[in-house]
Amino acid sequence: MTKTDTSIRAGAAGSASDPTTLEELERKATARRDRPSYGHDALIACDRLVRIFTTDGVEVQALQGLDLLVKEGELMALVGASGSGKSTLMNILAGLDVPTAGAARVAGADLLAMDGKARLRYRREVVGFVWQQTARNLLPYLTAAQNVALPMQLKGRAKHKAERAEELLAMLGIADARDRRPHQLSGGQQQRVAIAVALANNPAVLLADEPTGELDSATGEQVFAAFRRANEELGTTIVIVTHDQAVASEVRRTVAIRDGRTSSEVLRRTEVDEQGKESLVAREYAMLDRAGRLQLPADYTQALGMEHRVALELEQDHIGVWPDDAEA
Ligand SMILES: Nc1ncnc2c1ncn2[C@@H]1O[C@H](COP(=O)(O)OP(=O)(O)OP(=O)(O)O)[C@@H](O)[C@H]1O
Ligand SMILES: [Mg+2]
Repeated sequence: MTKTDTSIRAGAAGSASDPTTLEELERKATARRDRPSYGHDALIACDRLVRIFTTDGVEVQALQGLDLLVKEGELMALVGASGSGKSTLMNILAGLDVPTAGAARVAGADLLAMDGKARLRYRREVVGFVWQQTARNLLPYLTAAQNVALPMQLKGRAKHKAERAEELLAMLGIADARDRRPHQLSGGQQQRVAIAVALANNPAVLLADEPTGELDSATGEQVFAAFRRANEELGTTIVIVTHDQAVASEVRRTVAIRDGRTSSEVLRRTEVDEQGKESLVAREYAMLDRAGRLQLPADYTQALGMEHRVALELEQDHIGVWPDDAEA
């Protein structure tokens, strides 16, 4: 039996085999209705997110049906080539930009349906943001402690704000920077103050777009440690866009974006061998979208000369993908 035969038979089996009773159909319909909606238990749920920019009549599809689920308490990295849509996604999650189509929910907020007032509250209370440009994160004429206290003041939570500012600065290892203004701080210290500012109102999600992009690797490491601290101590869910391989390899989950879609992800877990030695084991996964589409890595398909059409074979515990042998 050839592989192509198998794939055709497998395809026919679902529709023509075993006569279906009415009872069975009803049971299936009920199961479908009762199935929880996509991403119901995720803190961040992006469902077929589309963002099209039009400049002078020219369209750019920055996001082309992006799916992403992030659980509460995760610390994850987002990587991808320049122009792949990372910042576009971050701006949408930050409530600064609105998607063209699709659905996006963060901590119960519907990012497409929010009115101006809800959006303002969302930006102040639900998300915190750290930008790449150190100068953009802090007000130059305020001290570190005053910068951290400001968002609390805007929210109207003036009580205990000085105390909380000190606590946050201490937690991130920059208590001694308290009374200094941004120009009296190093780039790495400024970014850690920026994390404290972003955490001031205890947001559900902390977003950072290339937060270590302007720093050398040792300083970047310290800034990343501050994110980790916030994640561990406060349980804040954190999404970091990064080009920094060191950062990407230190988180448990790294999602890659390609052409405006999530294309693959690397999960890392700690394994302990028989001698009790710990090591981090990484495994790469491809994303299967809700329509069943799968992107195969280019080096895999090229190695086997696969293009246009492949044969599929359903096995007990995996699916085989074979080069097209119909012509042979
Ligand atoms: N405001 C805008 N107007 C028009 N096009 C835009 C706008 N913002 C982004 N784009 C386009 O959308 C695409 C995705 O851009 P985006 O900034 O999200 O990429 P990125 O992954 O963050 O890249 P980088 O790693 O260089 O920061 C690019 O083609 C970009 O030119
Ligand atoms: Mg960007």
